[in-house]
Amino acid sequence: MELREGSYYIQNVKALDIAEQFGTPVYVYDADKIVHQLKTLKTAFADADVKIKYAVKALTNLSILRLLKKYGAGADVVSIQEAHLALKAGFSPSEIMFSPNCADFSEIEEAVKLGLVVNIDNIPFLIKFGTQYRSSYPCSIRLNPHIMAGGNIKISTGHSDSKFGISVYQLPQIMEVVSQYNIQIQGLHIHTGSDITETDVFLKMADIFFSVARDFPDLKFIDFGSGFKVAYKEGDRVTNVFDLGLKLTESFRLFCEQYGRKLELWLEPGKFIVSEAGHLLAKTTLVKSTPSTTFVGVNTGLNHLLRPMMYDAYHHILNISNPTGEQKVYTVVGYICETDTIGAERKLNEVHESDFLAIKNAGAYGFSMASNYNSRLRPAEVLVINNEARLIREREVFEDLLRGQVEIEL
Ligand code: LLP
Repeated sequence: MELREGSYYIQNVKALDIAEQFGTPVYVYDADKIVHQLKTLKTAFADADVKIKYAVKALTNLSILRLLKKYGAGADVVSIQEAHLALKAGFSPSEIMFSPNCADFSEIEEAVKLGLVVNIDNIPFLIKFGTQYRSSYPCSIRLNPHIMAGGNIKISTGHSDSKFGISVYQLPQIMEVVSQYNIQIQGLHIHTGSDITETDVFLKMADIFFSVARDFPDLKFIDFGSGFKVAYKEGDRVTNVFDLGLKLTESFRLFCEQYGRKLELWLEPGKFIVSEAGHLLAKTTLVKSTPSTTFVGVNTGLNHLLRPMMYDAYHHILNISNPTGEQKVYTVVGYICETDTIGAERKLNEVHESDFLAIKNAGAYGFSMASNYNSRLRPAEVLVINNEARLIREREVFEDLLRGQVEIEL
């Protein structure tokens, strides 16, 4: 979103017009930004045979999936439902990486039937997989590298106490199962968490991969997961994907030479692709001053954007109704009957009741983590593409709250 001649625009569409036309709250995504991010990552890793498997969980709307498919991404999915969404969006089964955690084994069986790339993250399932498929269906293995990484323990997945992956220290057990059932391992995978700024974390992962890869002669790919951090506020540290691309592709090249064969380098970005492209537009329901604080209430809350309350995440907020007004300090809070602070003590251009606010970086894990808490309806979603704002999900209606409820005689 950029400020031009006193108004905020997404491409050539005024953000205020979107709020008026589609109502609020509404999630708005900029297709150009999404495509730009995908291209940036591809460019940064251009020297490797890179495959970008978009982490569908970040934003699952079919139109977004189709856009990413159109520009050459694959998909990373974590549930069989996400897999079906990706298939519906047009991804072929072999482009879809299925990495469930603690899901029922029947989901893996379904993934095999569908022909997805299956990533196994625990030894009991590896045994089941071997017993059932032996060498008839290849799989990939998710390793836990014992690396603490990421912006927050809640989104760190590669440390020793994490539930994800098979510990690298259990490699002998992995090898035993693999050779007992003659399982064909086509990929190795690590995902250490989200919001990782250090290139070194990925280089450490590379060391681990490269030290174990020689035990797996059938590899087709090495999957470095994701965790690329974007800026949530001005001056924020971000992952330097060009530095990472340069260093990782070079060490990958040397590794492939040693391994004796060129392998594909897979990445699974979610946030990097869609976070900055998304805005949650909301309307100010009231401005309320207490002796200590001036609150701005909005017609959204933790039911639509959980990140501030769940991870203490910072989301920048703009008053798009009054872009040039005098700046004052406000605490922006949601309409949920819990403390759902979206931004504490923020400088905003003077806010009046019925102004529209834009909550930034809402593309990743915004709508996809939204709920109906307080029996509130989930927002509409709009994609700005070719300078046109297009509805890509209708706002929920009251009937959606009733759907599936069984009314019994009491
Ligand atoms: N691959 C796997 C196996 C994952 O579990 C995830 C995210 C990704 C890729 C994508 O990571 P990303 O590029 O988005 O960092 N809800 C949290 C983030 C949780 C991420 C879960 N897994 C948040 O809003 O910060």
